[in-house]
Amino acid sequence: MTDRELINMAFSAMENAYAPYSAFRVGAALECADGSVFLGCNVENAAFGDSVCAERCAVVKAVSEGRREFSRIAVAADSGDFCLPCGSCLQVLREFSEDMEILSARGDGRYVSYKLRDLLPRTTIKGEMENTARSSD
Ligand code: THU
Repeated sequence: MTDRELINMAFSAMENAYAPYSAFRVGAALECADGSVFLGCNVENAAFGDSVCAERCAVVKAVSEGRREFSRIAVAADSGDFCLPCGSCLQVLREFSEDMEILSARGDGRYVSYKLRDLLPRTTIKGEMENTARSSD
């Protein structure tokens, strides 16, 4: 699948965005190692903190359907600037993929591409807690 095809899927996912509070609609298309694609959109809530980003929506759908290896995610927003995943979404993506590709498309269709490693070079990862020395006692 080409980058453009994945981005188009993210734009179609954006149509389902539920964003009555921010009016900022976002769509995501998550490509898994087996080639399957899961779509997501942002789903906001009157309790603002309970809102879910498009990227995490797609990850939860994929993992709940048995996928844990991701190769690319396209994020699309009707915005003037490129919309990059927030820190929480980067963290959730990093849980499953060390170095996937992140495509970000803005309203006019242009897009930029990053590696997850470049956007989140170091963070808490699986297994880290087992290696942590208890130095404070
Ligand atoms: N949002 C996403 O869904 N993904 C991003 O990458 C950036 C932000 C959502 C969260 C909220 O519903 C709205 O966009 C405004 O931040």
